[in-house]
Amino acid sequence: MRQNYTASDRSVPFYSDPKIGLRIHTAIDTDTMTQFEKTDQRFMRAALKEAKKGLGLTSPNPAVGAVLVLRNRIVARGHHRQAGGPHGETECLGNFGRRVPETAKLYVTLEPCSTTGRTSPCTNEIIKAGVRDVVIGAIDVNPRHSGRGILLLRNAGIKVQTGVLADECATLNEAFNKWILTRRPFVIAKCGMSLDGRLTRPSNEPRWITDRVARRHAHVLRAQVDAILVGAETVRADNPQLTVRGVNKARQPWRVVLTRSGNLPRSARLFSDRWAAHTLVYKRKSLGHVLKDLARRKVTCLLLEGGGDVLGQALDARLIDKVHFYVGPILTGGPVVACAGRGVNATHNAAHLARVSYTRLGQTLLVTGYPEFGKITLRE
Ligand SMILES: NC(=O)c1ccc[n+]([C@@H]2O[C@H](COP(=O)([O-])OP(=O)(O)OC[C@H]3O[C@@H](n4cnc5c(N)ncnc54)[C@H](OP(=O)(O)O)[C@@H]3O)[C@@H](O)[C@H]2O)c1
Ligand SMILES: [Zn+2]
Repeated sequence: MRQNYTASDRSVPFYSDPKIGLRIHTAIDTDTMTQFEKTDQRFMRAALKEAKKGLGLTSPNPAVGAVLVLRNRIVARGHHRQAGGPHGETECLGNFGRRVPETAKLYVTLEPCSTTGRTSPCTNEIIKAGVRDVVIGAIDVNPRHSGRGILLLRNAGIKVQTGVLADECATLNEAFNKWILTRRPFVIAKCGMSLDGRLTRPSNEPRWITDRVARRHAHVLRAQVDAILVGAETVRADNPQLTVRGVNKARQPWRVVLTRSGNLPRSARLFSDRWAAHTLVYKRKSLGHVLKDLARRKVTCLLLEGGGDVLGQALDARLIDKVHFYVGPILTGGPVVACAGRGVNATHNAAHLARVSYTRLGQTLLVTGYPEFGKITLRE
């Protein structure tokens, strides 16, 4: 069967979001899709676009988007803006503002909630509004809720269809999904490295390895996480701010420092700038302990920004869920490798990246992927 991928690169099927550098392999065979399936995907994509507006702002809730479609046209849109605010589908129905006609279809990226939280359950809102037809992207992964929303809607006589762009809808909330299932944050390892795998840069030249486009991209990434963690040596060497800059409406993440010695300059920006109350220091605590504690503080997504010592420990302990490595066209040599640590004792124990993507950002190459262990499949 001939594969017709929706992406421009036909050898690698992917869904690409340049804003968050996300590429998800989807292998959609558009040849065999019916017109109905194509239409459903088109509207679910519009709902996803809505959901992404809330990415990084809704934590510890998932990002959710919805569109209401009538006679093949979107007549209302909505997304979850922040925890405590209306959920995506409720906002969408509110924006429509009147009883929903029987022929309308509601597209929502995540299974509607069915329990009362800070807002009333969306299943109630959907039933009350008169919706007769619902299309769902991803199923709620929380075992306490999973499938319950669908059942409630079906019991109310509503037609429910699931699985439309399910992978993309689920990946959008990959951090939330991990946190809710494991009570540990989703860990993204990020660094800007030279082509020879070094983080070293001369003091007073913090912007040395990657270029402006890549740094801007990294700020968008920061805007989507709840906390950024570095080792004490990075604080001593770089005096970083670890804030989100140049991104509209962004929340400032927690700034987290690991130290054994406790030797941290009081004048460091992390302790003296306007976000000082947003800095946490963990002294002589294991990474495992730190992750557990951060999760308790509702950190669903943690960005490990280095340096090499901390990144290496996280790799050794297999704590990294995703990498965002920005590789600059520069050779520096020097002592600070991107991931120090013990390293693997055999090739088959190395982390193999699944769903890997390569994105060019100016002069910088961004490589993202999901480390998998014990699954080496490199071809000869
Ligand atoms: N290019 C990039 O993206 C990037 C990003 C970050 C950093 N860097 C560079 O990386 C260099 C620093 O990296 P590095 O590898 O030398 O050091 P690092 O990882 O930043 O910090 C190491 C220090 O963190 C503390 N630490 C590490 N693991 C710990 C644990 N499990 N528990 C408690 N404390 C722990 C210790 O602090 P104490 O010594 O206080 O005990 C240790 O000496 C700097 O040159 C910086 O410019 C580059
Ligand atoms: Zn809801």
